[in-house]
Amino acid sequence: MTSYVAAIDQGTTSTRTMIFDHSGRVVAVDQREHEQIFPQAGWVEHDAEEIWSNTRAVAAGAIAKADLHTTDLVAVGITNQRETTVVWDRKTGKPVYNAIVWQDTRTDRIVTELGALGGGQERYREKTGLPLATYFSGPKIKWILDNVDGVRERAEAGELLFGNMDTWVLWNMTGGPDGGIHVTDPTNASRTLLMDLDTLSWDEGIAADMGIPMSMLPEIRSSSEVYGKVRAKGALAGVPIAGILGDQQAATFGQACLSPGEAKNTYGTGNFVLLNTGTEKVLSSNGLLTTVCYKIGSNDTVYALEGAIAVTGSLVQWLRDNLGMIGTAAEIEEHARKVEDNGGAYFVPAFSGLFAPYWRSDARGAIVGLTRFINKGHLARAVLEATAFQTREVIDAMNADSGVPLTSLKADGGMVVNELLMQFQADILGVPVIRPVVNETTALGAAYAAGLAVGFWASEEDIRSNWAKDKQWDPAMDETHREKQYRNWKKAVTKTFDWVE
Ligand code: G3P
Repeated sequence: MTSYVAAIDQGTTSTRTMIFDHSGRVVAVDQREHEQIFPQAGWVEHDAEEIWSNTRAVAAGAIAKADLHTTDLVAVGITNQRETTVVWDRKTGKPVYNAIVWQDTRTDRIVTELGALGGGQERYREKTGLPLATYFSGPKIKWILDNVDGVRERAEAGELLFGNMDTWVLWNMTGGPDGGIHVTDPTNASRTLLMDLDTLSWDEGIAADMGIPMSMLPEIRSSSEVYGKVRAKGALAGVPIAGILGDQQAATFGQACLSPGEAKNTYGTGNFVLLNTGTEKVLSSNGLLTTVCYKIGSNDTVYALEGAIAVTGSLVQWLRDNLGMIGTAAEIEEHARKVEDNGGAYFVPAFSGLFAPYWRSDARGAIVGLTRFINKGHLARAVLEATAFQTREVIDAMNADSGVPLTSLKADGGMVVNELLMQFQADILGVPVIRPVVNETTALGAAYAAGLAVGFWASEEDIRSNWAKDKQWDPAMDETHREKQYRNWKKAVTKTFDWVE
């Protein structure tokens, strides 16, 4: 009998279930989008119950499409948008508030106040690897406790649970109020600003600073082990849940970046470059994050340096949904191909402030360099180029932090179908960009973590041998031209600062 592994990928804009065979090929996929809720400028929310109901639907959908029985699946892994924060009642399973999404900047004041306790933005860097920023979960939990009626009392009475999307999905899959397990993994926990990177345990001092009761926090287990089985009701009933990885770490794993010095860039709603630094935790002096890359069972923890960019693919969606300038995301490339270059226009999409390497929540988006000459094609180019320039900035920071210049970049995610972007990326970086055959590396990484735990894959060597190159783009732009454009980009970035007092 042929066996398979499933992965649930709970992302920022949609939830998917994918089923993989032993060679790492996709057998079936089912996907549903969920609503993006923008109650006011800078706020972004999701309905956690909608996400859970989509998760159940896509699990059933993928099994039906693959024409399989639950018994054909040996394990399921979970991967997820990181940092997004849900607080719910442990008895009823009802969230006390919408999930606050990673892109949301409402915790700006909380973050400044925490920094004022001493140490400023660097207050928790040594322990957590992170700067104090609106991006992470801890301040979002504090916001919910401070602002939703009665919630602090209920949390202190031990009635409420916190989870990122991995924990929310796992708790519901394993039984919800009837006995769901409340667990996370170190890759997700390392994005909360609450976990000690050395001990992989919650830091009571930081939780106390933020007024977060320890009883709300999930147990931190490894990224690859059997946590429990899917409850009897539902499509995956009885299947062991055996892997959890935050989506960017999952993509790193799925891209087989398993040795120190190997890096990938995922082009999704945002871009996330992760460089495997091995069992050594490298603290950044150049605006990057230090994060857990993965922890497979009882093996040593592997760390990564990360360049997180908030807005890349979501800028294309914004053009489509908010401006109606294109009908589909794919049209952006058609428009961009009608012109030779950006005509002097630069678009800095600082919609959530700026993440790496700046960490400025006071920044807001800007289009600069406009003249009467600029047309839709130039703007389309500026939109795509913004992704490549932002990536160059984090790779420069990575080279500075690690002291070893990157020699090539593995790319994955939705935007890598855009050939113009991939070529421009290679041009602006000055190193080759490589796309793998299986581009669904996020779900694949979670499947690998789960499959390793149950012996479906024997070792990380299986992951390496499953990886294969699809296409490579080599740099073709002359250096003077490249550096001139990059200088212009840097100048454009400075125009986005100081917009929020
Ligand atoms: O840190 C945020 C990241 O995990 C979101 O990824 O792919 O859902 O946009 P994605």
